[in-house]
Amino acid sequence: MKQKIKIFIDVLMTAVLLALMAYQVVGDVLHEWFGTGMLVLFIVHNILNYKWYASLFKGKYKPQRVFSVLVNIAVLAAILCLGYSGIVMSRNVFAFLHIGKGMALARSMHLAASYWGFVLMSLHLGLHWGMIIGLFRKLTKGKAPAAVVWVMRVIAAAVAVYGAVLFIKADIFSYMFLKNDFAFFDFDKSAFAVFAEYIVMMGTWIFIGYYIAKILRLFSKKPDAVTDKNEIEP
Ligand code: HEM
Repeated sequence: MKQKIKIFIDVLMTAVLLALMAYQVVGDVLHEWFGTGMLVLFIVHNILNYKWYASLFKGKYKPQRVFSVLVNIAVLAAILCLGYSGIVMSRNVFAFLHIGKGMALARSMHLAASYWGFVLMSLHLGLHWGMIIGLFRKLTKGKAPAAVVWVMRVIAAAVAVYGAVLFIKADIFSYMFLKNDFAFFDFDKSAFAVFAEYIVMMGTWIFIGYYIAKILRLFSKKPDAVTDKNEIEP
């Protein structure tokens, strides 16, 4: 049951993240509500995974675990920055707080943290992608024909490449490193295209996270003493 709630929260967080990135589609009022919802979901996600914190000081740190912990700390930093800057800039949900100061800093912080957050949360998803593959194996009882597995691998690689092209074309690195002060929104783009492009770009970072973890795992001869209990690894 707990596992099912965890998966439901994770799916919900992924959907909300996409809706948050599609700021130009959902508009400012809904964005603030989704953002507030994300902060709540983030707290619930952390409570449900509290064992991760308890295990931090146990077991050996092999390359894959070091990478995973660094990504998680960075995700936490990005969410804290997004929550703080979002509340400072809020014109709806938190307008009653009347925070007049720190607007310029909050604007830059929100811009950089939203795109860093998108990349880091997608990488984080990639690090746990073994769980999704494990579920697929369970559903097909490990009997999916090799051809189907290969078709899925080719689709994943194609999505990763196309997402990288979109990411570069949208010049997202310039927001992450604050080379641009404002996000550029193409209002001619349909809502479907905005969401589809973010899903594909997310796919790129999931792919990168999944394969970085796989490569780093090659450096560990034995499985980690403390592993993620969620992970059903091949
Ligand atoms: C938690 C995850 C969040 C993500 C991923 C996120 C993402 C984004 C993105 C991509 C933009 C457009 C780019 C920009 O102008 O900065 C934006 C703008 C904005 N967000 Fe968020 N956001 C989050 C949370 C919040 C929260 C909690 C609030 C407030 C309740 C908020 C309020 C705003 C406001 C007011 C803007 C417009 C900024 C401006 O006019 O310059 N956001 N956010």
